[in-house]
Amino acid sequence: MLVTKQPVLRRFWYAIMRIEQLDNGPQPFTLLGEPIVLFLDAKGEPAALEDRCCHRTAKLSKGWCRNGNIVCGYHGWEYDRDGKLVMIPQFPFEQPIPDARARAFRTKTRYGYVWVALDEPLRDIPDIPEDSDPAYRRIFQFYDTWNTAALRLMENSFDNAHFAFVHKNTFGDIDQPRPEKYEIVETDYGFEAETLVTVKNPPMAAKISGTTEPYTKRHMRNKWFMPFCRRLDMEYPSGIRHIIFNCATPIADGKIQVVQLLFRNDTEADCSAQELIDWDAAIIAEDRDILESTDPDAIVDMGRKIEKHMPSDRPGMLMRKRLLDLLHEHDEEEVPKMQDTMSLTAQN
Ligand code: FES
Ligand code: CO
Repeated sequence: MLVTKQPVLRRFWYAIMRIEQLDNGPQPFTLLGEPIVLFLDAKGEPAALEDRCCHRTAKLSKGWCRNGNIVCGYHGWEYDRDGKLVMIPQFPFEQPIPDARARAFRTKTRYGYVWVALDEPLRDIPDIPEDSDPAYRRIFQFYDTWNTAALRLMENSFDNAHFAFVHKNTFGDIDQPRPEKYEIVETDYGFEAETLVTVKNPPMAAKISGTTEPYTKRHMRNKWFMPFCRRLDMEYPSGIRHIIFNCATPIADGKIQVVQLLFRNDTEADCSAQELIDWDAAIIAEDRDILESTDPDAIVDMGRKIEKHMPSDRPGMLMRKRLLDLLHEHDEEEVPKMQDTMSLTAQN
């Protein structure tokens, strides 16, 4: 599935960047192949416009903010937060300003991030109740650009068969390649998946999970939020919860912005934020290395025929089915890469 070719994907909220980043002036971002610019309006709320001036097409992100408006850096034309052209500095004061605008997009601030929806959203931003629960702390773990498809990251995080191999140097046990089974319940937003996984407990993991046993049983209650957010809720026998919330924000086909937040019901004195970042950095680097080696076009329909599967791929297969249903509900067909069509023809 080429994400830039499926308009229905524009109807979801995506985490774009930390709100603090906008204190440095207008910031560019590309969402689903669409260049946008984010900036703070007069009330300090985030605004998002197409990153293109209607005069000579310069990127508005090259400009600066003035009284909550954005000023084009080329000739100074000025737009308000809704994209309306409000000032042409070359015109005499009494001359009316043409009715022109830059396209504006919906924004929200949630969990310390600015979220953008390019078209009317089909559902709200995924709820994370722990964010407002005083028993939990929020840690901003990662904000990195990866060369892979959003669906690859999503299915990888529900794939119990990769731990023993990809994570053999962290928590995986290469001698235990048989994956544990997931109990999956489909929901309106995607699905919930529950499992018990036994993982290796190297010395640092003992601090993370609050146990000194060589192995720990993780109780995982995970959620997939269509299309590209996931929540991994790990509970250790110590009662420590390690809840990772991840967005694979699609920049373009085969390119994602990985946003990772962590919620923990312990304190900085138990395990510092930096230790938690370092621990998960080693794990996510293992995932990244292998995911960037996969075909960036994670196909949802023909992928069922081209790629081979095993029972533990069920969460990923369900994602493909639900995404395909979503396309069909909105009168879209999957737009595949030409080479996939060719390899399928060659197989038949
Ligand atoms: Fe923006 Fe001229 S290109 S003001
Ligand atoms: Co992994």
